Amino acid sequence: MLISVYLHSMLSVDMLKSIEWVGDRVRWINTLKIPWEEEIVETEDPERVAIAIERMEIRGAPAIGVAAALGVALAATKSRGEDVEKLRQDLLRVVRRMERTRPTAVNLFWALKRVESVIRASYTSSSELRDAVVREALRIYEEDVEINRRIAEVGARLIEDGDIVLTHCNAGALATVAIGTALGVIRAAWWAGKKIEVITTETRPMLQGARLNVWELTKEGIPVKLITDSMVGYIMSKRLVSKVIVGADRIVLPGYIINKIGTYTIAALADRHRIPFYVAAPTSTIDFSSRIEEVVIEERNPDEVRTVLSKLYITIPTVRVLNPAFDITPPELVSAVITEKGVAEKPLEVSLQKLKS
Ligand code: MRU
Repeated sequence: MLISVYLHSMLSVDMLKSIEWVGDRVRWINTLKIPWEEEIVETEDPERVAIAIERMEIRGAPAIGVAAALGVALAATKSRGEDVEKLRQDLLRVVRRMERTRPTAVNLFWALKRVESVIRASYTSSSELRDAVVREALRIYEEDVEINRRIAEVGARLIEDGDIVLTHCNAGALATVAIGTALGVIRAAWWAGKKIEVITTETRPMLQGARLNVWELTKEGIPVKLITDSMVGYIMSKRLVSKVIVGADRIVLPGYIINKIGTYTIAALADRHRIPFYVAAPTSTIDFSSRIEEVVIEERNPDEVRTVLSKLYITIPTVRVLNPAFDITPPELVSAVITEKGVAEKPLEVSLQKLKS
């Protein structure tokens, strides 16, 4: 109750929005520039939105789903033709383009599927189709804020006064429209007055923890310490962490968590040290139809590993590299999944199935 009051009041003040729809344009914070610069990019070109997702200017599962949907909405507003069928085909081409941006986060495909079913409905005029697509994209956008608010409210109840919470990658406002999932839970606990501390990994190679988590948490005055990814085991063995909370890019039954590379290592270590390992994610992250073998783990540019953010080679530039962007944590290592519909506890398969609407 108390948490919910805090959340409403904090949301009414100027909460950081990573993506916005402003006058038929999409505007976002370029997360590649954080923490050095708060660059705002604005476009009316759907292709520019696709490139922003590929380059990770916009990143994080919920954010890329919302951005892709808004990208299709841009294509709809830009089109001028009167032919409904032609507009439908044009928009479907943009949907296909958005689907090719990143392969792992299911929220992208979930959002595009919603937009596609609107595109495929029947219309008497092209303006009716245009309006319907924009409306659906904006609905996805607005729902994301409300869903994160509810995840934060539900999850904050699991955080106790005095907790030291470890997180990995950025599942914050910069990975959603606002608030975030894992960081949303942390924010809500902090807003409710719980005395907590956060430890974030740096999250090599793209440094979402060092760059984005430290930036978001410092802005709000939430105490945060930064560690390198390889310090997790030692920190846990010294009981310097009481809970782990991360986001997810896809959850596959019976409860596999696909999230930023390194998550599996953290979950295994948390299990070894009997530290609760929580995942915070919207139900749109649960993929009820794929088998784990079918999930494509994105392999990114080898230079991300050979360099520090393309600035400095830390190795011989021709060395062969492995660069999977995500890994898979098996269900037995997960204590619970926090969603906007409630906490899915063990056995995960049963509790996640119950969230299917
Ligand atoms: O490669 P990224 O930065 O898009 O990866 C993001 C993550 O792994 C996040 O933990 C996940 O998308 C959840 S964001 C609420």
